[in-house]
Amino acid sequence: MGNIRISPSILSADFACLGAEIEALDAAGADMIHVDVMDGHFVPNITLGPPIVKALRSHTQKPFDVHLMIAPVDPYLEAFAAAGADGITVHPEAGPHIHSTLQKIRSLGKKPGIVLNPGTPIDHIDPVLDLVDLVLIMTVNPGFGGQSFIVSQLKKIEAAAERIAKTGRAIALEVDGGINKTTVKQVISAGADTIVAGTAVFRGGATCYASNITALRG
Ligand code: DX5
Ligand code: ZN
Repeated sequence: MGNIRISPSILSADFACLGAEIEALDAAGADMIHVDVMDGHFVPNITLGPPIVKALRSHTQKPFDVHLMIAPVDPYLEAFAAAGADGITVHPEAGPHIHSTLQKIRSLGKKPGIVLNPGTPIDHIDPVLDLVDLVLIMTVNPGFGGQSFIVSQLKKIEAAAERIAKTGRAIALEVDGGINKTTVKQVISAGADTIVAGTAVFRGGATCYASNITALRG
């Protein structure tokens, strides 16, 4: 098992003081900041857009791990890149052309990631694995924090780990949804190295962020 990276999702933060929340996550030892962008169309919830990412950028030096749950996605890539995203992760269903979307993210100087919903087969990563720096396996259906971990996705994490190993490239294997002290062990055993967590990091308030993050490292 290599180093585990923790990417707290600000979906569970206090939206009235996001800047302070990000500073608290930084101080608590987060490796990066997971930014969930939802449009009320691709997923049944609306969160935030590029102006907020830009406003938050000065509050930490840590990478912004931007998870786009919007369709169409292509028209907004430049805006999120300019706002300060470091990684930009997209769903193949948000298309219409996942290969060119990932190329576009790379051409903007950002790290491209592909994310698979629980109902999306692992095969979707095969034609584009050479283009990505990150594969994200959703362990809940996207849209909301606080949902229960979908156990059937462990097999998909294992399958992704096998495919990534065969490339010989350093591709992060991230998981997102329902991660807690118990499920984190399962996903790490399955091969995940990058852990998104909202509820489990924010539980108990700011004085608990550091111990919550430490607990997720195992
Ligand atoms: C769901 C989001 C997740 C979510 C995780 O659509 O992509 O990042 O915030 O929240 P928890 O950790 O509470 O399941
Ligand atoms: Zn997410």
